Amino acid sequence: KQGLQVAIDGPASAGKSTVAKIVATRFHYIYCDTGAMYRAITWKVLQAGVALDDEAAVKQLLDSITIRFEPGEPVQKVFVDQTDVTLAIRQPDVTNSVSAVSALPAVRKELTARQRTIADAGKIVMDGRDIGSTVLPDAEVKIFLVASVDERAQRRLKDNAAKGITTPLATLKHEIEERDRKDSTRKVSPLTQAADAIRLDTTSMSIDQVADKIAEIIKEKE
Ligand code: C5P
Repeated sequence: KQGLQVAIDGPASAGKSTVAKIVATRFHYIYCDTGAMYRAITWKVLQAGVALDDEAAVKQLLDSITIRFEPGEPVQKVFVDQTDVTLAIRQPDVTNSVSAVSALPAVRKELTARQRTIADAGKIVMDGRDIGSTVLPDAEVKIFLVASVDERAQRRLKDNAAKGITTPLATLKHEIEERDRKDSTRKVSPLTQAADAIRLDTTSMSIDQVADKIAEIIKEKE
């Protein structure tokens, strides 16, 4: 292993990907957005018209596709085979179906294996729900980001506006709560703080403050 593994977990819209990207750039680490991988298979499931709870069919679909990341600004690009799904996987239909697909044990097993391969060499910042607890239990740095649901809904509203998505604030709040509930109560690797993770409440912190704090923690370990 050439460098550290940094795991950043937390509930929906807590700012994980934004700070993970900043931190990865600062340290010249690879950034891997595992939520995008769950979103990518969910997009494929919706495209194919497969039922969200048909585990065998979903697994077969997952085995038939590649999920790739490519550098891009302002966001990393995501491809399912040759199709650029960067924007499609952030749309409300995928967002509201992803927790059902990500609860399927066969899907988690396969994506966990792909994520471990990506993280194997170290020098990686990986964000998600179960990175510190399940995917990379030996990660040297584990961060658990939280923020109030009101703050997270406000942040999502801003993000969405930039993408032309106009879901009202109250609906966003409800969707975030629902997604957290489903992600926290599923049987296999639910959203939970690893015992050795450092908890950061970002409700009244700026993005830069959060990134600086995580950078400090990484420097201590490097
Ligand atoms: O991080 P993001 O909100 O894009 O994640 C989308 C969904 O993917 C989550 O709500 C969760 O259902 C699933 N997910 C997961 N495990 C991860 C990352 C994401 O189950 N490590």
